[in-house]
Amino acid sequence: METVAVVGKPVKRKEDPRFIQGLGRYLDDIVLPRMAYLALVRSPYAHARVRAIRTDAALAIPGVLAVITGEDLEKAGLAWMPTLAGDRQMVLATGKVLFQYQEVAAVVAETREAAYDGAHAVEVEYEPLPVVVDPFAALRPDAPVLREDREQKTNHIWHWEVGDREGTEAALRSAEVVVKQDVRFQRVHPAPLEPCGCIADYNRGTGRLTLYVTSQAPHAHRTLLSMVAGIPEHLIRVVSPDVGGGFGNKVPVYPGYVCAVVASLKLGRPVKWVETRTENLTTTHFARDYHMTAEIAATRDGRVRALRVKTIADHGAFDAQANPSRYPAGLFSICTGSYDFPVAFAEVDAVYTNKAPGGVAYRCSFRVTEASYLIERTMDVLAAELGMDPAELRRKNFVRPEQFPYRSALGWTYDSGNYAAALDLALEMIGYADLRREQAEKRRRGELMGIGISSFTEIVGAGPSHSFDIAGIKMFDSCEIRVHPTGKVLARLGTRHQGQGHETTFAQVIAHELGVPVEDVIVEEGDTDTAPYGLGTYASRSTPTAGGAAALAGRRVREKARKIAAHLLECGEDDLEWVDGRFQVRGAPGRSVGMKEVAFAAYTNPPPGVEPGLEAVFYYDPPNLTFPFGTYVCVVDIDKGTSEVKVRRFVAVDDCGTVINPMIVEGQIHGGLTEGYGIAFMQEIAYDENGNCLSGNFTEYLVPTAVEAPRWETARTVTPSPHHPIGAKGVGESPNVGSPAAFVNAVVDALSPLGVRHIDMPITREKVWRILRAHGITG
Ligand code: CDP
Repeated sequence: METVAVVGKPVKRKEDPRFIQGLGRYLDDIVLPRMAYLALVRSPYAHARVRAIRTDAALAIPGVLAVITGEDLEKAGLAWMPTLAGDRQMVLATGKVLFQYQEVAAVVAETREAAYDGAHAVEVEYEPLPVVVDPFAALRPDAPVLREDREQKTNHIWHWEVGDREGTEAALRSAEVVVKQDVRFQRVHPAPLEPCGCIADYNRGTGRLTLYVTSQAPHAHRTLLSMVAGIPEHLIRVVSPDVGGGFGNKVPVYPGYVCAVVASLKLGRPVKWVETRTENLTTTHFARDYHMTAEIAATRDGRVRALRVKTIADHGAFDAQANPSRYPAGLFSICTGSYDFPVAFAEVDAVYTNKAPGGVAYRCSFRVTEASYLIERTMDVLAAELGMDPAELRRKNFVRPEQFPYRSALGWTYDSGNYAAALDLALEMIGYADLRREQAEKRRRGELMGIGISSFTEIVGAGPSHSFDIAGIKMFDSCEIRVHPTGKVLARLGTRHQGQGHETTFAQVIAHELGVPVEDVIVEEGDTDTAPYGLGTYASRSTPTAGGAAALAGRRVREKARKIAAHLLECGEDDLEWVDGRFQVRGAPGRSVGMKEVAFAAYTNPPPGVEPGLEAVFYYDPPNLTFPFGTYVCVVDIDKGTSEVKVRRFVAVDDCGTVINPMIVEGQIHGGLTEGYGIAFMQEIAYDENGNCLSGNFTEYLVPTAVEAPRWETARTVTPSPHHPIGAKGVGESPNVGSPAAFVNAVVDALSPLGVRHIDMPITREKVWRILRAHGITG
């Protein structure tokens, strides 16, 4: 293995030998002595008063140790917990339930089976209440008020707006062309392979609580637990073991965690709670559910002049989004996308309904997916209105390379970009001109073929502490490096990967900075007793934040190493230069030392007046976010007989600045595109009018596998971030953010000869069949 220039190499994933041999250690693999199990009693009703809860029959079941109700929690002041969005959420129902499968009681037992038997034996008397599932209906004056605990007696939660309302209105009024489109991003679910769970282990002897938990943000969870439960923070240790996918689902604190903690405190035993697949899909947090309207003002020759966006955000029963505090609608104001809009205005109104709470950033930097889908869909609507090629319309309106750093009409400063380069490469790879010719030919024959483009821009790396905090905690991140006497390295970070490969990529960054082989660096994350404080892994923030911390901690180690190297080489520090991963005396290439010799000297022969040891920690507060981007092009053919949409080709050109590991980046793109495919064609967390969730398992909520997924063709351009220590931008979420619009634009393009201008996702075969049938095309 090369010792230098390891950034940019497709180093094999260090974590894979344990994952592919079944040697990972996930939450449910952990079994502690005297461990009890917890199961939750859940409401069958979406809205009902809880008249009585009878626990005698449950307590009589052999092995049942305790039943906890909302009334019990009320006595401890824990019946409600604060959400990250500044709302509050019931831990166990007190008075009434507000969504189907809401947590009503917890049963703790010697075995998992006894806990479930106990949960079935708890008798709950409900008085059903009128249900509201439609967010627009929830806003009507005659709608039943769902949250009686609030002072405000409506279902409206908050209003948020940004931009120039009057200027945008004026531009729309005087525009040559205006298009307006309603676009819904349906409720979907991150659906990680491993559901959420925890083991709370309170030791009465030491007074310490260890919480093993499927957590994307262990330090934040420790602080919040301390603040909510009143346990001193130094007596809490949060351990996030191997995590089988998170995608935003493992950022919030869930009632199951609080119940397990309460049960462990009560029993003085470890208590495990692991949710089922149905519990995961129906109660731990959903994503999206944004009902948007976009208006674009443009000139007749296709120059955009203004953007206005109005959105209703359905938050379900509690506003339990996990957004940075200052941004209730997340980073939705990136909705001007890759385009140079002179003026824009966006507003969002959040609403309660009788549905599960959430609004998490599912592989998304806080509502960026919704924003990107909206603008990329609406740009196609504008292209159709103008009779213009959608690629040409995009090119004409891109923010140009010389405009960076670019300040958008809604207030973001984009760091760098070259949107036309990504578009050109994608069009060339797919053979755009030929495809358009083929399409024209096919249209003459009545065949349905479509080409969809999405030239998205992203905003990732929350974030600079001047604007980004969660519950007051600034969103920096951290890395601590310890170089052992033999030159081997242990690095710990405040992030927590869930399969993204940090043990490899951060080892690459550190190896690069220290000039050591990548296999000599071990990376650990997820234990609050050992890792430096950080805000965790979600929203593609790890590379922009902890990746920066890793590079800068490495440079800090090097600063000290330089003093030791000067001592070893008997020269002044200023006489040294860093060449190919070694300290070398300027002008004397034969006289050099590497980190291995320096590390040994740090412990055996430190220079006089220099502390022994070789360690550093860096808390990195990035100056700005990073703005990755790309162009995706999708080609579809629609079978008029079966209504099947076949994705013939999909080209993805991504730009995430400096690439640390091209193989891992490629894997991230494949995974995210497959998720985007599922969202575009298969997935919706749907409810009937009584608030029954219709998508509570994987036969109803479909997850694409390699069988369904198209073949992905990937490529990249490289436009480094000017402010990131190694020029890297985040990438994990780009394919999920950018791809839904490419799929939908392709299908709408295929159906445009029938007058179709928009179709809401998921584009199921039934939806296509209904459109074809309405035009007498299919039976
Ligand atoms: O926060 P999260 O890890 O989910 O997202 P990310 O920062 O976009 O990184 C996803 C994976 O891709 C990590 O292993 C990164 O180190 C890697 N990556 C890379 O190799 N080069 C980049 N420019 C960006 C990410």
